[in-house]
Amino acid sequence: MTASHRRSADEPYSSEQIAALDLRAARLPRHVAIIMDGNGRWAQARGFPRIEGHRRGVSTVRSIIECCSRLNMQQLTLYCFSSENWKRPELEQKLLMRLLEQYLVEERAEIARQNLRFSVIGRREPLGEGVNREIDRTYEVASENTGMRLCLAINYGSRSELADAAQAIAREVAAGRLDPDAINESTIEAHLYTAGMPDPDLVIRTAGEMRVSNYLLWQISYAELWVTEKCWPDFDKDELFAALRDFAQRNRRFGGLSN
Ligand code: IPE
Ligand code: IPE
Ligand code: MG
Repeated sequence: MTASHRRSADEPYSSEQIAALDLRAARLPRHVAIIMDGNGRWAQARGFPRIEGHRRGVSTVRSIIECCSRLNMQQLTLYCFSSENWKRPELEQKLLMRLLEQYLVEERAEIARQNLRFSVIGRREPLGEGVNREIDRTYEVASENTGMRLCLAINYGSRSELADAAQAIAREVAAGRLDPDAINESTIEAHLYTAGMPDPDLVIRTAGEMRVSNYLLWQISYAELWVTEKCWPDFDKDELFAALRDFAQRNRRFGGLSN
């Protein structure tokens, strides 16, 4: 592939292309959050070890990031590893951490090229030196970027996020810097890992489970949910476009009445 080909592939979709995909620019979500599930089932159905499903999942990650960025989304948040995933066999945990580290090393050039902003949400200490080093380096590389924010949820759990926020707020109260009567929804939002980020408009879950698995519980209060039977390694741009088309038809009321 020539350099000029690569650049044109990254250009934002034109309004004609968006219309040809039967999408409406004005009704695209600003922030999509994905629960990338079903890697293990995908592999097992083909007689591969589970880790092969995680490896194939990385290719899906690449194409979906590129697609969302070309659609000018503000943010894409990907659930990579939950705080409950430490319950898995040690070998799978280790291989997942290694894959994550390798992904960050390989993806840095792409993050730079696509001008992606970068964030990680979740408790970082248990991730180990290798993953943490690559997260720090990726933050550095992306520090001046101005495009779509790629947010990776790694060792993320919504309940521990809320517990961490409660601790931080309690410390401010104890130090006399915050009046308990002044605590409101904005105070809590400002102490979440996602402080300053827009709430997801659309949550996509692959592999068919009808649950949220401790993902962004506060932030998805009014998000639209979309579940596909496809496992994450089989998820592709067409499936994403189908979710976006469906999203465009939804009547979001936020507790009010429809217009
Ligand atoms: C999602 O795939 C990736 C992670 C949770 C790390 P799974 O590994 O959960 O795949 P299934 O659900 O077992 O098929
Ligand atoms: C959710 O998937 C976490 C990630 C996709 C990283 P799980 O496979 O861990 O969810 P459950 O256990 O089926 O609820
Ligand atoms: Mg799963």
